[in-house]
Amino acid sequence: MTTVLGTLDAADDDRVAALLQRSLYAWYENRLGQGARFGTDQTPYGIFPRVYRRLDPGEEIAARDASGRLVGVCFVHPRETHHAIGIVATDPDIAGRGVARAMMEEALGRADRAGRPVRLVSSLLNLESFSLYSRLGFTPRTIYQDLEVHVPATGMPGPPPNGTSSVRAAVPADASPLADLEHMLSGIRRLPDHEFFLSADSGYRVWLAADPRGRPTGFLAASHQPEFPMLGPGVAIDESIALALAWRALDALRGRTIVFLAPATARGLVQRAYGWGARNVELHVAQARGETPVGTGIAFPTFLPESG
Ligand SMILES: CC(C)(COP(=O)(O)OP(=O)(O)OC[C@H]1O[C@@H](n2cnc3c(N)ncnc32)[C@H](O)[C@@H]1OP(=O)(O)O)[C@@H](O)C(=O)NCCC(=O)NCCS
Repeated sequence: MTTVLGTLDAADDDRVAALLQRSLYAWYENRLGQGARFGTDQTPYGIFPRVYRRLDPGEEIAARDASGRLVGVCFVHPRETHHAIGIVATDPDIAGRGVARAMMEEALGRADRAGRPVRLVSSLLNLESFSLYSRLGFTPRTIYQDLEVHVPATGMPGPPPNGTSSVRAAVPADASPLADLEHMLSGIRRLPDHEFFLSADSGYRVWLAADPRGRPTGFLAASHQPEFPMLGPGVAIDESIALALAWRALDALRGRTIVFLAPATARGLVQRAYGWGARNVELHVAQARGETPVGTGIAFPTFLPESG
């Protein structure tokens, strides 16, 4: 199919929101009968182009058909250590006609020219996207389970996990130590993302765990935006710190239903989440193309911006 690749501007925000809603709704409804998870209102999806434009202006790839209609988007997030990709979506009317591949090839060409590996998180329920990335040379890394938890209006069930008292709200001056910790544990470095999460108007709160000498041992960003009820990104040096961070972040989101991605192998964290009433709603896998370090500790990926 003939498409022209270009970029987006603020005037496209509504079209992008409509495309994301339509694409996700159609795929999940047709394949899994779960379109309702994504709603029929495009308004909440406007958060993606707004945040992505703030973080990575001009890096997005838009596909338009011969009449100029927006038929695909692929958001690219170049970082010091890697390029992250996501969200990728195409209009269901043109599914299977190579539009996503064309956008991805453009994104991968940029990463290759910069000499950086590429990371993303893809749904294990979605063979189209998994295969698209696999055909382009991505290989799977960690499997994550998406856990959905309803936080009671009265707060998280107690007692708080061990170590919760060492968790505090992070402040803008913590951005650099948090970027260093993530680099050490996950091999990715992205200071501007941390500065964004810690900025007053981002809609996020960031929780930080520290050892007795005040050195960070984990952090977890939590979206308090009504459109995007999700924890992440975050890292922790071990499962007990991850658990304390998750409990603290959820407790601050009373009355809300929140999703977070936990490594499927983090048995203690996952079992404790079941104890909080968590339900498995999806499975994701980190996929990478090129040399990427094997991470240590626990990572909580997210989709805004995609952190892989
Ligand atoms: C995933 C999505 C972006 C794919 O878009 P698309 O435009 O239909 O994809 P393309 O036609 O460019 O490419 C699909 C590729 O996957 C391949 N493919 C699809 N199903 C496959 C399977 N079961 N096994 C092997 N390959 C498969 C196709 O052959 C094609 O590869 P090729 O170009 O090498 O032949 C689209 O389905 C979508 O928008 N879904 C909803 C949003 C979403 O889930 N996004 C992904 C978020 S991680």
